[in-house]
Amino acid sequence: MADTIKIKIDGKEIVTSKGKTILEAATDNNVYIPTLCHFPGVPPKGSCRICTVKVNNRFMTSCSTPAADGMTINNNHDEILDFRKSIVELLFVSGNHFCPACEKSGNCELQALAYRLGMLVPRFPFLFPKKMVDASSPKIIKEQNRCVYCKRCIKTIKDKEGRHYFAFNNRGNKLEVVLDKQMGNTISDKLAQQAMDNCPVGSIIYKGRGFSQPIGTRKYDKEPIGSNIED
Ligand code: FES
Repeated sequence: MADTIKIKIDGKEIVTSKGKTILEAATDNNVYIPTLCHFPGVPPKGSCRICTVKVNNRFMTSCSTPAADGMTINNNHDEILDFRKSIVELLFVSGNHFCPACEKSGNCELQALAYRLGMLVPRFPFLFPKKMVDASSPKIIKEQNRCVYCKRCIKTIKDKEGRHYFAFNNRGNKLEVVLDKQMGNTISDKLAQQAMDNCPVGSIIYKGRGFSQPIGTRKYDKEPIGSNIED
């Protein structure tokens, strides 16, 4: 069929359809490529770079690069795995992530990626930035110390009129994702929970319930991230 194309990921031949991204083609064919900012159903922006692969020897983000016939892709190679690990390390040192005290521990994609990529002591110095916690909403705690700027909350948490609850504020190293004060005061329980679920880390916490599922029994406590898909 004209709409069918063939690519190779780590030597494995994959038949996919035109228009799919490399990430989609890989996932459909049981090949794991890690992601962080990517969220199914939301157009990819390629901002976190965790899903980087080498395409015909060039670094590309697999979530935003369309698969093209004849592409040769390296995914599970030492150089790429180390590149991904360095991104995770950068995220850890540029925020304040104290996993044992985080409600998201065990359900956190950043923590799970760090385990999967074998992160020990980051190669970069910790910055220990001073960041605020906004607990003014009756339903949500916005913990800036853990934000990884993935934009998932900005893109997915909207009211019926399409207005966004979260937005970027400031620039450069002052950049933060903030919850609109007025909308945060009236956000529903359902949407607050969804905001927490869509956040890959513990930067959005739904108030009123904590540690109801014990640490040690959570999603990534049982199995490493991506273990439902082949390496
Ligand atoms: Fe592709 Fe973040 S998942 S750039």
